[in-house]
Amino acid sequence: MTTTKKPSRLFIKKSVERVRAEAGAQPFRRVLGPVDLVMLGIGCIIGAGIFVLTGNAAASFAGPAVLVSFLIAGFACALTGLCYAELASTLPVTGSAYTYSYTTLGEVVAWITGWLMVLELGIAVSLVAVGFSGYTVSLLRDFGITVPPELATAYINSVSTPDGIRFVAGQGFNLVAVIGVFVVSILLVIGIETSVAVTRFVVMAKIVVLLAFAIIGSQYIDSVHWTPFIPEHEGGFSYGWPGIFRAASVIFFAYVGFETVCTAAAEARNPQRDLPIGIIGSLVVCTVIYVAVAAVLTGVVPYRQLGVADPMAVAVDVMNLPWFGLVVKLGAIAGLFSVMLATTYGQTRVFYAMSRDGLLPALFSRVHAKRRTPHIGTLVLGVAIALAAGLLPITILSDMVTLGTALGFGIVCISVIWLRNVRPDLERPFQVPGGGIRVNGVKIAFIPALGIVFCILMVAPLLLDIVEKALRGDAIPAMLLGGYCALGAVIYWVYGLRHSKLAAADVQPETHGLSQESV
Ligand code: ALA
Repeated sequence: MTTTKKPSRLFIKKSVERVRAEAGAQPFRRVLGPVDLVMLGIGCIIGAGIFVLTGNAAASFAGPAVLVSFLIAGFACALTGLCYAELASTLPVTGSAYTYSYTTLGEVVAWITGWLMVLELGIAVSLVAVGFSGYTVSLLRDFGITVPPELATAYINSVSTPDGIRFVAGQGFNLVAVIGVFVVSILLVIGIETSVAVTRFVVMAKIVVLLAFAIIGSQYIDSVHWTPFIPEHEGGFSYGWPGIFRAASVIFFAYVGFETVCTAAAEARNPQRDLPIGIIGSLVVCTVIYVAVAAVLTGVVPYRQLGVADPMAVAVDVMNLPWFGLVVKLGAIAGLFSVMLATTYGQTRVFYAMSRDGLLPALFSRVHAKRRTPHIGTLVLGVAIALAAGLLPITILSDMVTLGTALGFGIVCISVIWLRNVRPDLERPFQVPGGGIRVNGVKIAFIPALGIVFCILMVAPLLLDIVEKALRGDAIPAMLLGGYCALGAVIYWVYGLRHSKLAAADVQPETHGLSQESV
């Protein structure tokens, strides 16, 4: 029996039936099959994480034990990936975690999730665009073309001082990254079918390059570089186990993107079957590739030398194969471009869903009559993403992405537990395996609960680091995060709260109160 107590306005929920009905009324074409979805997933996953951040994570935090960080972060994502797959098969709609939390935890949590997803997707695109800029500038240099440094450097930058890393403003503007974002936005405005064709090509290119790097590089591994495998702890988050976990919170970024498969639910031919295949399939393929590439990187180059913008190019230099250096840079550029394409696609679909619900202005859900793409929203988002790419450095962008993503993932795990308790009757074509326990009548499944624990493990070292930096007087990362949260609260208060279609529809919202029968 469901309770009849009326919920607070902030916690009104969409009924599952309403969400499913909306899925049938969406204007996109159902053109994506399972291979497209796995490709879309890999397109989003493999990018700046492996091509850029692996080197930084090994050099600053974990040494060769960055392999362990990969396994920890990969395990955390697999747990959440299973939760995503269950929700995506139960509610095959566009909007992903945003829509799930609207159905389970209510409007205000849905807004927070949607706002966090801008960090997870939009800011991730900015970060990848910065990596794209780094490898592009390096490739152009190989051909004798020098891009002025102020056109490939962010406005805010980190500098090493005797007191540690500090951020300074007024360095330059990363125009190369901005151009990359604009090209991606225009491809997405042109249409999904064109975009998938481009994605397929570049995804294949980056997989081939990474596999070639792992196979060719394995001949050059010197096991001396792996000894000791876990470098001795040097205080703070430098090496040892604290370093392994801090590196995992950086490396976590490398897995971000598998959930973009869910945002394509409205364009999938058979979402119930194909979404879980897309999520788990792309996650498994990427984990294998990451571990192989990280093993070669740390086995070929002493880990302290890997803290550069193009660590794979450094490894290829050690192998003394200049032609392969060109191939790796081209592969990196293609790989980073495909991540930008697929992740921007995901971001536009989340804003589409939020706008359709009245929580964001209508321009984000206006669909082009002929091309069937949310063209105006795509261009507006493109400008915002490009600005962040031009102004902010990779270190700040990476921490913002991990924070937003891990919090969003935690909400997804909670949603699975919640929905199983309040709607055990729903058909779930895919279910997270493993049992659970009952606590005070509430059924708690093991894997989603473990997923929450791992999300906290990803966020904790990073938050501690940001607080520690703020206490030392380096407040830019803390101010950016605080400002971002405050902006989200203002937009919801001024716009979303007044325009919410669910609140206006005078639909009796579900309370999802727990009942004896439902647990
Ligand atoms: N996982 C994506 C990357 O590594 C965001 O670039």
